[in-house]
Amino acid sequence: MDKRTPIIIDCDPGHDDAIMLMLAVGCRQFDIRAVTTCAGNQTQDKTLLNALRVLTLIGEEVPVYRGCEKPLFRNLVIGDYVHGESGIDGTELPAPGFAAKTGSAIAAIAAILEKATEQITIVATGPLTNIASLFLAFPELKPKIKQLVLMGGGITRGNYTPLAEFNIYIDPEAAAIVFNASVPLVMCGLDVTHKALFFEEDIERFRGMGNRTGKAVAELVQFFSVFYRSNRPELGGGAALHDPCTIAWLLEPSLFKSKPCFVDVETQGKLTTGATVVDFYNLLKRQPNTEVIYDVDREAFVNLLFASIQSLP
Ligand code: RIB
Ligand code: CA
Repeated sequence: MDKRTPIIIDCDPGHDDAIMLMLAVGCRQFDIRAVTTCAGNQTQDKTLLNALRVLTLIGEEVPVYRGCEKPLFRNLVIGDYVHGESGIDGTELPAPGFAAKTGSAIAAIAAILEKATEQITIVATGPLTNIASLFLAFPELKPKIKQLVLMGGGITRGNYTPLAEFNIYIDPEAAAIVFNASVPLVMCGLDVTHKALFFEEDIERFRGMGNRTGKAVAELVQFFSVFYRSNRPELGGGAALHDPCTIAWLLEPSLFKSKPCFVDVETQGKLTTGATVVDFYNLLKRQPNTEVIYDVDREAFVNLLFASIQSLP
């Protein structure tokens, strides 16, 4: 009997998505039924290629499916100003050792949910276009989802606009569908991910790990840090490892602090479109729909990553 937790991962690799995948594989605690890619940090062509290259690097062949090309109603805006031309600049990744599966990500996730004999956890670390499309096309499959653990949003501020975090901002309508879907949600927003920081000494520790994956993590974070050091000086020189917080929370929730809150998404505001409106003090007296994660033990988070990635090639 496979004791591992069955999960589906939807991501837009992306430096921190890549490290999230390494953690998800290296911890050996998850039965990864599929990896699906979304457009966000880069175009779908590039995020799909990057997912295949990262999984090849770590020697893990899992079914990979291509997701939606663009947001539900808006033009795609990419995050190349952080992640570079390839979407994962800064390290040499191998060419894919295997091909993506044919067929759409949405149909593939639906088939996995349909066939599953137990509930499946979904992890989403990019814009929520694929997830919203799944909920719209297959609402009857929502009960097969144990929980959706997503990186996105924030209680107090954004990182793409003053109040909107990138993943939510790129497809706010999709995010609004997801937060109103009555599926159990866990939100790792900027409040926690801006505490999940890697500093120079952490980079050097991974560089000296002795395997190719540790070296790749060091190079990825080194590149990622360039943006943070010049644009987020308040983080003290650290780079925010946003996406790995989702998997780390699934592995060790005790490292985090969270609160059940009612959350919805602004899609019309002139200045606020893409904001996750988190009712932290329950002022609206609405039923909480999201476990909002807002703090992490940084050192324990880094050690968890280190221990998991040590097991990879
Ligand atoms: O705002 C951070 C999020 O946007 C992360 O998921 C990062 O990979 C980018 O997609
Ligand atoms: Ca991402």
